[in-house]
Amino acid sequence: MSNASLDRVHVLLGVGGGIAAYKAAELVRRLRDAGAEVRVVMTENATRFVGAVTFQALSGNPVRSSLWDESAEAAMSHIELARWADEVIIAPASADLIARLAHGFAGDLLSTLVLTTAAPVSVAPAMNQQMWAHPATQANVERLRQRKVRVLGPAAGSQACGETGEGRLLEVDELIAALVAARGPRSLDGLRVLVSAGPTYEDIDPVRFIGNRSSGKMGFAVAAAAAQAGAEVRLIAGPVSLSTPAGVERIDVRSARQMRDAVIAAAADADIFISAAAVGDYRPETTAPTKLKKSGKALALELIQNPDILAEVGQSAQPPFLVGFAAETNDLEHYARGKLERKRLDMIAANQVGEAQGFECGENALLLIWSGGSEQLALADKRVLAQSLVERIAERYRATRPVVVSA
Ligand code: C5P
Repeated sequence: MSNASLDRVHVLLGVGGGIAAYKAAELVRRLRDAGAEVRVVMTENATRFVGAVTFQALSGNPVRSSLWDESAEAAMSHIELARWADEVIIAPASADLIARLAHGFAGDLLSTLVLTTAAPVSVAPAMNQQMWAHPATQANVERLRQRKVRVLGPAAGSQACGETGEGRLLEVDELIAALVAARGPRSLDGLRVLVSAGPTYEDIDPVRFIGNRSSGKMGFAVAAAAAQAGAEVRLIAGPVSLSTPAGVERIDVRSARQMRDAVIAAAADADIFISAAAVGDYRPETTAPTKLKKSGKALALELIQNPDILAEVGQSAQPPFLVGFAAETNDLEHYARGKLERKRLDMIAANQVGEAQGFECGENALLLIWSGGSEQLALADKRVLAQSLVERIAERYRATRPVVVSA
């Protein structure tokens, strides 16, 4: 499990012009050590202090400093870059840069990004102590604070210019700690989440099988969202062609019985089991060892029922918090409530199938039901929906499970 404090967080690091820019190089390394993905944007002045190549090598990503770089803009537009960011941190932030940000200027790439992003912005000032103490700078910083920009530092001490006072960039450790603290705890920190996803295939003979139309997208999105929320995630995947979400441990299976074995083995040490797989209810009683041939007559397949994996986990002595899915073409709420009780679930996520949602598509809507409440999550991209679902699961989990304080 990656419990790194900034695990998979997209950090956009803005480097301003100032001698402290060299410390930003170390910051990139340490952000990556903490699990973050880092992209660096430098002001023109910053490039006079440290070369872009240094930041490119350390971040593993191209560095940008201009709005007018056509090839960079084609690869990832500044709007996409602003959306990509989960966090923006500007270190060092010069007096000039702070003034421009405080007044909403957008004359260069970095200030444009700050106006364009929805991500929280942190600035770490670094400048001569007189510049820092100047009422103009103090007023600008106050403006930023009022706009909920986090101001990290500066520290006091000896300065590159030979003076002593307030205006030093915070140490890299302190910057990272401040960023982590500002982000706050994630909803599934410290929890182990098991997710099943995709269809199951039940073999008829070596070339034919009974399957279903599940793409696995919803379950994979749930696994990704749970990992982003801080959980240690194990994903039991039926046959799908999807890539494994970052930080998720994946176990591939084919049939319902293989999925059952993998889930039962993993459920014992899971805190939460989210069963998003469309498990085949039936399988052929026997699988022919060689390809079945046409006989000129009708062919009858004897089907027998598969184990109900979720129900079996629900019957264990100390089941994890159980979340089931119910895909229905009709009487959605009625059937979902039945499953909630019958399978002893803590929550069920019900969706209507048959319209332009549910199977084989990128969007879905979910009706969440638990004992004592329900909530409709509106039609949305499955990745967005998965994040909302994971947040609701975290809330219900914390509301119903006692907090165990480890010794
Ligand atoms: O098939 P059904 O509609 O009953 O599925 C509801 C829930 O039960 C789903 O979360 C599904 O993953 C799970 N299930 C299962 N094993 C089965 C059938 C369904 O775990 N054999």
